[in-house]
Amino acid sequence: MSDDEKAVKIPAQADGPTEQGATLTEDAAPGEVLLKVTGLQKHFPIKKGLLQRQVGAVHAVDGIDFEVRSGETLGVVGESGCGKSTMGRLITRLLEPTAGKIEFQGKDITHLGVSGMRPLRRDVQMIFQDPYSSLNPRHTIGTIVGAPFKLQGVEPEGGIKKEVQRLLSVVGLNPEHYNRYPHEFSGGQRQRIGIARALALNPRLVVADEPVSALDVSIQAQVVNLLDDLQQELGLTYVIIAHDLSVVRHVSDRIAVMYLGKIVELADRDLLYKSPMHPYTKALMSAVPIPDPRRKNAKSERILLKGDVPSPISPPSGCRFHTRCWKATEVCKTTEPPLIELRPGQQVACHHPENFADQAPQDTVLLTVAKEAAELVADEVLAESAETSAALAAEVAETASEPTASTEAEAEADEAAESAEAVEPAEPAKVEVAEPVEPVTPAKAEAAEAAVAEAAEAAGAAESAKAAKGESAESAESAASAEATDAAGSEGQESNGK
Ligand SMILES: Nc1ncnc2c1ncn2[C@@H]1O[C@H](COP(=O)(O)OP(=O)(O)OP(=O)(O)O)[C@@H](O)[C@H]1O
Ligand code: SF4
Ligand SMILES: [Mg+2]
Repeated sequence: MSDDEKAVKIPAQADGPTEQGATLTEDAAPGEVLLKVTGLQKHFPIKKGLLQRQVGAVHAVDGIDFEVRSGETLGVVGESGCGKSTMGRLITRLLEPTAGKIEFQGKDITHLGVSGMRPLRRDVQMIFQDPYSSLNPRHTIGTIVGAPFKLQGVEPEGGIKKEVQRLLSVVGLNPEHYNRYPHEFSGGQRQRIGIARALALNPRLVVADEPVSALDVSIQAQVVNLLDDLQQELGLTYVIIAHDLSVVRHVSDRIAVMYLGKIVELADRDLLYKSPMHPYTKALMSAVPIPDPRRKNAKSERILLKGDVPSPISPPSGCRFHTRCWKATEVCKTTEPPLIELRPGQQVACHHPENFADQAPQDTVLLTVAKEAAELVADEVLAESAETSAALAAEVAETASEPTASTEAEAEADEAAESAEAVEPAEPAKVEVAEPVEPVTPAKAEAAEAAVAEAAEAAGAAESAKAAKGESAESAESAASAEATDAAGSEGQESNGK
């Protein structure tokens, strides 16, 4: 973030408009459960033939449970197609759930109609992945950021224009650019506009679906830092969906790992990164470079998963990961492991978790299919990895119990390293990681940002090109959803006016 941007004063939440009836965070006690999701499912029907008979369903989200506490950031990671965006759209109620329950501040909002959802639209906002297609090119920035006020019939103190200009400075944009059009801004600036729009009504919960993945890597760190700053200043609660594990690590307090429509592990960030318990998480994490000199030669710890993600139309029986898991046994094939808390702050759905007593020790017959599906890591490597994980877990526990000045220094080092890690092309779907990344030496965050900028070029022309074009199917989907949100808002307004 530039000095200019840093200099922008972010007004306290209470300075915002009060007529909105959405002054939220000041009376929401940090740590209280803001959002509770139970058994949430979304099955998209597959229809065929003239009569459009349903012949099956895509089990995009297939029974997930989690909570989001006020003031925290829940990161959601997983391979492409595992249901992350669908989950985001369900909790913002852009999609109607097939089953399950969503409670927001203790209120059941699972099947609320348009008018019932109207107050919720202020409290729950979404930031979309693609800043190029989620902003209407025919509208000025003033109109775009001011739209939520009009849709909700809210008149901020001092008028909409003044409030929009305040929001623009909050996100580090020049308030004088009120009358400019989206094409006059860069990708990073456009994402800031999207963030300003999301913040307009002083929301409690912001769901950000891949907020930085369409951005050039050099801009990613800036937007991530902006989200961080806004959270601290405004006390926001985030659900951040991302496939870039470095980004998720940087922003999250807790992380949910999804696989084929299910949450397989949900844990505090440090526990998850330093001592993952689900084999799938372990495989994912093994692809993330860790700035720890003791793991300098971490290449050997990489776990290569073979085979494609199975189809969500007919997910595998038992544990859905059994077709790719190197630890799979018969019980994994037949019995679905429940998501249970195996350690404080760490819920895992696995019969044979890592670094923990086996949940199904009686079943030791390795499935041939699983053996073939994974390139097994040598026993000694796994043992060494288990040792490292255990040592690091102990360290996490110690650090958590007595926060010291050195923790801050480490955090700074971590931050620097993580920013630099962002240079990795964001391609999470493949657990195979191409080249080992040099461990990053601790440095100032600014230095890391500069490194990110330098490495941007190398980070993959494809991604930049995608960002520049903004023509992906997903982008179109974002726009559609943005419109859906607006439409829902305006419909709500209409019905309310009647
Ligand atoms: N409207 C829809 N109709 C039918 N199937 C859908 C629909 N939306 C999503 N799906 C399917 O649901 C599954 C989950 O999709 P989703 O977009 O939630 O995945 P994701 O985890 O966000 O993936 P990515 O990381 O690629 O964005 C996919 O198999 C997808 O094809
Ligand atoms: S339950 Fe079995 S197949 Fe599933 S992750 Fe655990 S060991 Fe692997
Ligand atoms: Mg998605």
